[in-house]
Amino acid sequence: MRVGIVGLGVVGLATGVVLAEQGHNIVGVDVDENKVEGLRCGRSPIYEPNLKEMLDANASRIKFTTDYSELSDADLVFITVSTPTVNGRIYLGYVFDAAKRLSDVLRRNDSIVVIKSTVVPGTARKVKEIVKNDVVSNPEFLREGSAILDTKRPDRVVIGSQSKEAGDVVENLWRFTGAPVIRTSWEEAEMIKYAANSFLAIKVSFINEIANLCERLPNCDVNVVAKTIGLDRRIAPYFLNAGLGWGGSCFPKDTQAFVSFARDMGERLRIVEAAIEVNRERVPRVVNMLKSLLTRGKVCVLGVAFKPNTDDTRESKAIELIRALKAEGYEVVAYDPKARTEEAKMVTLDECISSSDAVIIATEWDEFRGLEERLKDKITIDARRVLDPSKMEASKFRAIGLGVQT
Ligand code: UGA
Repeated sequence: MRVGIVGLGVVGLATGVVLAEQGHNIVGVDVDENKVEGLRCGRSPIYEPNLKEMLDANASRIKFTTDYSELSDADLVFITVSTPTVNGRIYLGYVFDAAKRLSDVLRRNDSIVVIKSTVVPGTARKVKEIVKNDVVSNPEFLREGSAILDTKRPDRVVIGSQSKEAGDVVENLWRFTGAPVIRTSWEEAEMIKYAANSFLAIKVSFINEIANLCERLPNCDVNVVAKTIGLDRRIAPYFLNAGLGWGGSCFPKDTQAFVSFARDMGERLRIVEAAIEVNRERVPRVVNMLKSLLTRGKVCVLGVAFKPNTDDTRESKAIELIRALKAEGYEVVAYDPKARTEEAKMVTLDECISSSDAVIIATEWDEFRGLEERLKDKITIDARRVLDPSKMEASKFRAIGLGVQT
């Protein structure tokens, strides 16, 4: 099939390369000329495991352009543009712009417009009014850091559609994944995406509150609690890692947008609101942990990406931490294997550790595991639980969710 992708962020690129690998011809459109130019020269705009290799291997079936008219005879076009939260509300301008541009260029009335961007319920219905062609809501559940893998092997494929035929075309497209397919209405598909992200954010905030409590009890480790409650299949072990809180380009914006959307509908999502509040307290809490061991000096922050295996720093808790430390008068240096920030001087791992008075682990990169021997004599705060506490010097070490060991 001839497949268009509008918006070349992580979702657009992962969708494009995976469908190209399946033999489809892809036309990727983005308004950012630099990004398109880079992609044409084989440069990936982001670090994502296996993305560059997939771009190279499928280059003959992928074309990048800023020109929407290249989509005029597409069988289907995915909208994968960003939907930022502005003043606590979702901004849908990029989705509607894309829909308007598509309505201008699509020459065939059987071209299908597929919305993958995260959008509040009611959006597909509005897009349908703009484009006239069939519209399918096909929310994305991939995670950054494993975007390609998640696109090839999703837990489920959700297809929200009014037209059975259009839904069938999208279902066939994803059949190779072998994932269960759930056919829904537009509104259900849009709701499922928000409910899923909000639930995961709630899970993390829940275990973070349990972690707070564990810190006040002797011999209590949140990791033991999380692991054990996770053995109950109704709870499941995932998204129970206590730490510095959730960040990234999705949870913070989606939970906010969902809460505002609910209020607009005359309902409250109090548990989601509480999860947001708990998440806001993570960084101040870690700063207070540091203060109890060191009141001034130089701090090395290990990790600036919002999670491992990505160079994405959007809404990164590590960056929020750097800002908070600086506001408290600490000098800050940082190291990350892939990500960069202007908020702190970026140095090598060795320099970061050796030049500082204290170390805070802010992102759980594998590279930070096994550093116990080097950190033993230093004030260390493990905000992502990558170190083995039994190998650390108790008087100089604090970890999220770990009570005093007696
Ligand atoms: C999230 C969802 O997991 C995806 O299913 C969804 O498709 C995506 O948002 C999206 O809406 O596009 P992502 O933001 O890439 O994916 O990252 P996650 O792995 O979900 O992590 C989000 C944040 O939660 C990170 O800051 C991570 O450090 C934190 N987290 C996650 C924890 O603190 N503890 C955990 O146990 C899990």
